[in-house]
Amino acid sequence: MMKSAIKLNVLGVGSSMREQSYSTAVLKIILERVSRNEAETKLLDLRLTRIPMLYSTKEDAEEIIHATELVKWANAFILSTPDYHGSMSAPIKNFLDHFWSEFAGKIFGYIVASHEKGLTAMDQMRTAVRQCYGWSMPYGLSVNPEEDFDDRGNLSSEKLSNRLDMVARDLVVYGKLIRQQFVNDLAEKNVVNSFAAYYK
Ligand SMILES: Cc1cc2nc3c(=O)[nH]c(=O)nc-3n(C[C@H](O)[C@H](O)[C@H](O)COP(=O)(O)O)c2cc1C
Repeated sequence: MMKSAIKLNVLGVGSSMREQSYSTAVLKIILERVSRNEAETKLLDLRLTRIPMLYSTKEDAEEIIHATELVKWANAFILSTPDYHGSMSAPIKNFLDHFWSEFAGKIFGYIVASHEKGLTAMDQMRTAVRQCYGWSMPYGLSVNPEEDFDDRGNLSSEKLSNRLDMVARDLVVYGKLIRQQFVNDLAEKNVVNSFAAYYK
């Protein structure tokens, strides 16, 4: 793996309220694999950190402060959601609603647990991230609980496991490149019309 000056801090965001969640289980597995690729990882499990709905309370709610600290720490994200009616879960949408400029110039990977492929839910997350000027990975992870897990709740699909390795590798490699360029552009004095110039 190419050495880079930038250190990647990857925040995984789990958004199922189910204790035995498949989407959160896969998120935990991939974060562990990402950490083997010279990146730091942290988990924000929205089942445990119940972020209030946007504008429903003061911004100094403990959960909002905790999530904000993690989001500011991160320069890469993996968003994970169950497929609910072809859509992302309400908690992940609410999480995304709380932030905007914090996502700019950062890479995003995606996990959806679905009986289908979960592509529409993935596209919705991509749309929200694009709207916040984040960079989405071109492919994502679809988790099919019946096919990918055994009866004891362990990951059993070699195909999915290989794809997890692929995302764990690509997210770090491309995430560093994108982030490094963004940081360079932020420091650049002469180029006025760059993507990063708007965030100075
Ligand atoms: C309200 C609701 C809507 C759902 N809609 C869909 C759906 O449209 N397509 C689908 O494949 N699965 C759907 N499911 C099933 C979940 O996506 C599936 O059980 C998933 O594994 C749950 O993720 P989790 O294990 O991370 O909680 C739905 C489940 C619920 C509770």
